[in-house]
Amino acid sequence: MINAPSPIFSSPLYLSGASISDFGELWDRSLESLIEHVIEESLRTAQLEKKDIDAVVVANMSAGQFEGQSHLGALVSSMFPQFPPAIRVEGACASGGLALLTAEQYILSGTYQRVLVIGAEKMTDVSAQETTDILAGASHVIEESLATFPALYALLAKEHMREYGTTRENLVSIAVKNHHHAMNNPHAQFHKEITIEDVLKSPMVADPLRLLDCSPISDGASAVVISSDSHRAQARIAGFGHAQDSLTLAGRSSLTSFEATSRATKQALSRTEAKIAEFDAYELHDCFTIAEIFAIEDIGLCKKGASQAYIENHSDKLNKSGGLKGCGHPVGATGVKQVAFLAQQIELGIIERGFAQNIGGAGATAVVHCVEPAKVNENKGIVKNTRIKKSEKK
Ligand code: COA
Repeated sequence: MINAPSPIFSSPLYLSGASISDFGELWDRSLESLIEHVIEESLRTAQLEKKDIDAVVVANMSAGQFEGQSHLGALVSSMFPQFPPAIRVEGACASGGLALLTAEQYILSGTYQRVLVIGAEKMTDVSAQETTDILAGASHVIEESLATFPALYALLAKEHMREYGTTRENLVSIAVKNHHHAMNNPHAQFHKEITIEDVLKSPMVADPLRLLDCSPISDGASAVVISSDSHRAQARIAGFGHAQDSLTLAGRSSLTSFEATSRATKQALSRTEAKIAEFDAYELHDCFTIAEIFAIEDIGLCKKGASQAYIENHSDKLNKSGGLKGCGHPVGATGVKQVAFLAQQIELGIIERGFAQNIGGAGATAVVHCVEPAKVNENKGIVKNTRIKKSEKK
């Protein structure tokens, strides 16, 4: 039961084969070729063959509208000789997080032992106007008829500015930071440092959000194997949380926080027995600059309205991949990419434990994951949390 917090899992949830394609405007690539690429990469990294996969979960928001290709489960299953059971999971921009949760439930229920999770989206084959219309489907049809997606986040930004005195410079610092981090990510859409001036002078999209406050339109795919066995494990899922809120902003009790993020975080932390400050990397859902400010506050890294000081002191921990802003945001791929990125960072010894927050729409769906080293203490089949001391790292 996803909504029943428990620090104990019935099975370990190992991560292997973390794979991320290039993110960007990939006009020479099809959705199918991006998916095939991450399957190959993932299995090669995990030293597995296609026949070793018991089931596949594919995260995708809108391939039916972007590409005319619905029925992604069958499409992906057809890429395997044994036609494994495969389903598509959709939850707007949280599709990836939900696909991971689905695979985790398969493992925890004992249904399957090795599940490949893929996230994929191809967004650039339609016009900018069509893309905006398709993305607006992540909000309620009534609000969708009144405002674009950036406009909804602009409204949230204005409320946050009014209530907490948040400034344009606070928002801008997120974009500058995440473009800076993307410089170190070879798969990122942007390898270009930007300045405060660049953001402030970029075209207005929805006041106060300008073009450089927005995540881009992107193509890309990501994959990771979740398994109950430790074969080639890079990391493991130590906790997960999932919560929902009203789809309409009108139905929310607050317009300055995403309560689903807070509830999902509490669930995940209760499962890991970790404290939020104990992670050394946070992949946060910065679809717009204001969204990262919400995330930092809602997961509990600082009090509401106090994110700027936190960002100044901890910028190296926040969206090391470049986040959605710098790395890109192929919507169905993002949630899987966050966890795959953290697993790679843990395997490389760059971080010890990571936290991923993935939201759908304007925060109506929230999924969070805690990712830790694969090494666990096992006691009669029950996985307990362990921390690897720095001295024990490879
Ligand atoms: N960040 C940085 N650069 C961007 C960018 C972004 N978000 N969007 C576009 N660019 C760059 C392009 O690469 C291009 O650069 P070039 O001239 O050097 O090639 C230039 O800006 C113009 O690009 P264009 O495609 O014409 O921009 P656009 O005006 O059509 O789209 C946005 C810009 C911001 C409207 C679009 O990226 C957008 O809608 N983003 C939000 C996506 C969204 O809502 N996702 C779901 C969130 S949950």
